[in-house]
Amino acid sequence: MNKFTLMKMHKLRDILKDDVRRRTDFSQTDQTLGVAMPPIQKPLGAEERLLPLPDWRGVVQPRGSLEELIANRRSTRAYLDLPLSSAELSFLLWASQGVRKDAPGRVLRTVPSAGNRHSVETYLALTRPVVDQQGATAFAPGRYRYAPLEHALVHLGDADQLGDKVAQAALDQAFVGRAPLIFFWASLPYRTEWRYAEASHKVIAVDLGHICQNLYLAAGAIGCGTCAVAAYDQARANLLFGLDGQDEFIVYLAPVGKAR
Ligand SMILES: Cc1cc2nc3c(=O)[nH]c(=O)nc-3n(C[C@H](O)[C@H](O)[C@H](O)COP(=O)(O)O)c2cc1C
Repeated sequence: MNKFTLMKMHKLRDILKDDVRRRTDFSQTDQTLGVAMPPIQKPLGAEERLLPLPDWRGVVQPRGSLEELIANRRSTRAYLDLPLSSAELSFLLWASQGVRKDAPGRVLRTVPSAGNRHSVETYLALTRPVVDQQGATAFAPGRYRYAPLEHALVHLGDADQLGDKVAQAALDQAFVGRAPLIFFWASLPYRTEWRYAEASHKVIAVDLGHICQNLYLAAGAIGCGTCAVAAYDQARANLLFGLDGQDEFIVYLAPVGKAR
């Protein structure tokens, strides 16, 4: 590495360190100044409505001991041409971002998050129908947002050439667009900045790792596979879900399908 590249790298490495905490004036954060806490979930738009997800308990039978699931975890980039069921989708969403305890003023999730701030929203691209127990369409192909508080989906739009658009958004990683279901995680950084100001951005990135790891393990438990994807086209990925790119933007994605 030449001297200038190395200097640039040293600067960029700073985000991985916690020196920022000493530089942050916590007496001036929006939380300390009494600004109202931002919503923990995106409010419903005027035209949006909740589509409840079924209870997966008793329907989906997660298989494998924790030890087996951890030992067999791998990135899967080829998927069988089979649909997922709505109970399986429900399980995957619960495992990766669901609510485990809803106490007054304190909603706790199945994944940890720095200060319980949970800056992440889950978006879904369904390139094929998700079916119910009888094989009928439960969720048509299209773009959706997950509402963890109600454990429901919000339909955002249609599916016109969605697989192709997803693959393009994933920098032409074709396997991503071939999955029946693609998780797109977006960050709304202010949820964390409200409390931690400049000390937010490393922990937002760390939060994402927990979400995706839970998805790997949950997918493995129901015969599915996934692959973490951090190489994507920022503008195209934002555009898929109408995100403004400043206050909310895609940060990570993961296609899911039945594994061979
Ligand atoms: C942060 C992160 C970003 C990744 N981005 C991509 C990606 O863009 N495309 C891809 O095919 N795999 C991606 N992967 C998957 C890795 O290539 C994979 O985890 C690694 O090769 C090890 O394989 P394993 O997961 O099967 O153990 C990513 C993994 C992580 C954790």
